[in-house]
Amino acid sequence: MIDGHGLCVQLDALARISSQADGLTRLVMSAEHRKANDLVATWMRAAGMRVHEDAIGNIIGRYEGLQPEAPALIVGSHLDSVRHAGRYDGPLGVLAAIAGVAALHQRGEKLAHAIEVIGFCDEEGTRFGATMLGSRAVAGSFDDAALALRDDEGISLAEAMQRFGLDPEALASAARRPGDCLGYLELHIEQGPVLEALGLPCAAVTAINGATRLAVTLTGTAGHAGTVPMAGRHDALCAAAACVLAVEDAALAAGLVATVGRLELRNGAINVIPGEVHFTIDLRAPQDDLRHRTLASLEAQMRHLCERRGVGLKVSKLHELAATPCAPHMIAAIDRACTGLGLEPHHLASGAGHDGMAMAALCPIGMIFLRCKGGISHHPDESITPEDACLGASLLLEVMRAPGLTSVNAASHKF
Ligand code: GLV
Ligand code: MN
Ligand code: MN
Repeated sequence: MIDGHGLCVQLDALARISSQADGLTRLVMSAEHRKANDLVATWMRAAGMRVHEDAIGNIIGRYEGLQPEAPALIVGSHLDSVRHAGRYDGPLGVLAAIAGVAALHQRGEKLAHAIEVIGFCDEEGTRFGATMLGSRAVAGSFDDAALALRDDEGISLAEAMQRFGLDPEALASAARRPGDCLGYLELHIEQGPVLEALGLPCAAVTAINGATRLAVTLTGTAGHAGTVPMAGRHDALCAAAACVLAVEDAALAAGLVATVGRLELRNGAINVIPGEVHFTIDLRAPQDDLRHRTLASLEAQMRHLCERRGVGLKVSKLHELAATPCAPHMIAAIDRACTGLGLEPHHLASGAGHDGMAMAALCPIGMIFLRCKGGISHHPDESITPEDACLGASLLLEVMRAPGLTSVNAASHKF
């Protein structure tokens, strides 16, 4: 019913839409975003869906249920990528959902509920730093302050939206009403090595770790590398180096994960003392209080390190999402579908962020992880087999069809 090979051929075709030839790079509101939406829209239409692009640039296909305008189970993932990415993180969940709907359409099967497949425009936050712009807009939790964020070229999100053909003033129209959404379901590669080591293809996700992203600016005093004595310097990069190690120490001490993934030295030159450094911190934990406590003590530690060096410190929050549990009835539906397909049910927590974190403000969420080679992701070496693609998409389809999902409706979802 699901052609795993055909699904992989589509994933390969989508991966060719990239701004870089080496690895996949597809950023929100770019020419590649436009091309990807257009290609995915053709596949959605071929699968029997009515298609539109919403006010933030998500591409949405709707497959009606037995009753027109019935509440929908939303199924999907994201179409944007990190820089130098692989081809499965995100697109797998969108194209597998379309393959599931195509199978329903082919055999003329209508469900009690509608299915809406969404290709979210931005989960990674690669271009503007704030993540999940697409799913936040759908969930009604989009923070308008994000419109002022600027990319590396100084283009704001609001300007980028206009160039893409979208009206930032109309953003609120992307938000969905809770009563129209039964739940959100996503298939995603595991991005870790656990399933491969266990010899299992799939697992139900129990919860997604909470995350905070910070932008840090250190301001020292630029000066001549040959004439300013070492003792009198306010070197912003030396302060940054101490801060980066403090991030690592804080994560190790607290037993969570924290990463400085970008660091930029302004006006750097071989013979100039660094005057201004920008870097990012990404910190994640399964418990929100642990994340908050660690961030507070890390910031105090960085302040102390910078004061000692006479370097100014500014920390601003780019993004914060609480740890998000998956709904027990969605986990149970995934377990039942696994058993139905002869797969052993298994549960895993997610260390990576996913659109479900934003969608949980709107409706109950469920996630399926699919094993990937070596647990590698955010890298061109990301890999899955066509057999696993078929299994993952078949499992997704069985959960989409599960009658249990419609018996717990969105009205009973606790915010
Ligand atoms: C997205 O992949 C994230 O977890 O940063
Ligand atoms: Mn990712
Ligand atoms: Mn992803």
